[in-house]
Amino acid sequence: MRKPFIGGNWKMNTDSAGAVDLAKGLTQKCDSMLDRVDVAVCPPFVYLAAVREALGSSAIGLGAQDMYFEPKGAFTGEISCQMLKDVGCSYVIIGHSERRHVIGETDELLNKKLIAAIDAGLLPIFCVGELLEQRKAEKTGQVVKEQIEKGMAGISVEKAKTITIAYEPVWAIGTGVNATPGQAQEVHLMIRQLLASMYNDSFAEQLRIQYGGSANAANAAELMAQADVDGLLVGGASLKVNDFAVIVEAAAKAKSQV
Ligand code: PGA
Repeated sequence: MRKPFIGGNWKMNTDSAGAVDLAKGLTQKCDSMLDRVDVAVCPPFVYLAAVREALGSSAIGLGAQDMYFEPKGAFTGEISCQMLKDVGCSYVIIGHSERRHVIGETDELLNKKLIAAIDAGLLPIFCVGELLEQRKAEKTGQVVKEQIEKGMAGISVEKAKTITIAYEPVWAIGTGVNATPGQAQEVHLMIRQLLASMYNDSFAEQLRIQYGGSANAANAAELMAQADVDGLLVGGASLKVNDFAVIVEAAAKAKSQV
């Protein structure tokens, strides 16, 4: 049984006071559900320490939105895994579509980041997903397969167990147009079958696959009702305490009814 996992990707939003308020509000609303659902928030780098403090003794996890694969040195502007651990992060998002398509990160770079994050003891949330034109050209399966095969290349089954995959179709991110539950389930199942062939059945059964892309308080329950949707990676709706709490509750309920 896979414990549901809801991540909040705050992207380049909030300010220091707003980040602290949001974190505190979430502890109040979500802490009682954390036995049934894992929750992590991913603020901008500069607010990680303040959010860590605001989370206090809550079991809500702290994650970063990116990292660099080198441990230290002359990499101006970059942040290492060791630095993230030092400020209390347990998770890190790797390969978000905005990193792939706006910043231009490649599969090869993301593979290095994944390996470095795992070796440093961070839990990666590894994002994959197709562009609208790729979906229209019926290339979704091929694109996602390539992203996973290249991104996870050379990672042993033991190490891969720490990964959560987030399927985030690029056309659904921030657009208000979410994948239908059926579309999400179809790709999640394909990903699970791919992982079974790359690794083995029991590995594929236990790895969590989140859906991301316009997930919100209104659609969370139906997305979470899908057999292979184990959680959600939430952008816009993670910036509102009440909306995010409704999503966390939907996740807790969906899987406890199985
Ligand atoms: P969204 O973003 O929920 O605002 O669509 C999701 C994501 O990019 O992780």
